[in-house]
Amino acid sequence: MSNPSLLILPGDGIGPEVMAEVRRIIDWMSERRGIRFDVSEDLVGGCAYDAHGTPLTDATMEKAQQVDAVLLGAVGGPKYDDLDFSVKPERGLLRLRKEMDLYANLRPAQCFDALAEFSSLKREVVAGLDIMIIRELTSGVYFGEPRGVVVENNERVGINTQRYTESEIARVARSAFELARRRSNKVCSMEKANVMESGVLWRDVVQEVHDAEYPDVELSHMYADAGAMQLTRWPKQFDVIVTDNLFGDLLSDLAAMLTGSLGMLPSASLGAPMANGRPKAMYEPVHGSAPDIAGQGKANPIACILSFSMALRYSFDLGAEADRLEAAVEKVLADGLRTADLMGPEGGSPVSTQDMGSAIIKALDESL
Ligand code: IPM
Ligand code: MG
Repeated sequence: MSNPSLLILPGDGIGPEVMAEVRRIIDWMSERRGIRFDVSEDLVGGCAYDAHGTPLTDATMEKAQQVDAVLLGAVGGPKYDDLDFSVKPERGLLRLRKEMDLYANLRPAQCFDALAEFSSLKREVVAGLDIMIIRELTSGVYFGEPRGVVVENNERVGINTQRYTESEIARVARSAFELARRRSNKVCSMEKANVMESGVLWRDVVQEVHDAEYPDVELSHMYADAGAMQLTRWPKQFDVIVTDNLFGDLLSDLAAMLTGSLGMLPSASLGAPMANGRPKAMYEPVHGSAPDIAGQGKANPIACILSFSMALRYSFDLGAEADRLEAAVEKVLADGLRTADLMGPEGGSPVSTQDMGSAIIKALDESL
């Protein structure tokens, strides 16, 4: 049988340097665990625009459709701010999500005990926090038509459309219920059914899928604004949160910040199962390309490494290896190792991206 295949798209800014640490872990798995991947690498985002005049070539898109999983670093940077919308780095990312039909975006917000102090909230509010936001990723206002800027009555009008079909809501609701069954069996669905018709439909369909297929899961509904408030008030009341594309974008940033550092958070974007039974999948850190620190060896590679760990778990059925990798990350944090983003106001001496990678590999060695 051939090895599972991985397409690595490091992208822009700190993407390449954090991805380099993931490649070292992939090498470690091959050498020390006999788990081999066929890895190929390609361009996405600004670097693809520089090379080819487009943030994602058709050839790269085609490759992404073929592999078992895509691992993406980050896209974007100030250099590309003035580009036309259609060739902005972010369009590359959005095209991957849309054409691979990666409708369920899993964004865990987990507070590492050693880092609870970094949250802007009190330790008791965030310590031990472990929630999962499932954001619908291929529809809603991000993609709805009509859209654009038009002129009406001598003034410009900006238009975007929130639009959800029943089946789009039902499939992401199923993802949430399935995941909840493997966690604390609790789902909270968030929308704005008080002002949006699409929110009313969202609430109805989530409830229908629940009643017909997942009556054993505890389901609640919340308006998304109240959800934001509850997430900051007492986030541990939640386990799985399922919500639409735009609310999910906002709420997942909020949840990320609860944990203290964006540099720590991975994500998985999953679609329907392929012929081999694996879901179509792309894994990426939640943080962006951080152009201000790019190329300086300051970036925290942990979010990207934990994204690879999610790939082990959700694409390759290697849950035990994912546990091992996550334990190694926890170990180095407990030992006090910190990249620059994890320095408190009192400062200290941060380790480099590479040093953090080396320490995690050492912890992996010690786990054998
Ligand atoms: C995210 C980002 C993207 C989004 C951008 C980069 C297009 O904010 O993944 O959360 O809005 O979806
Ligand atoms: Mg976002």
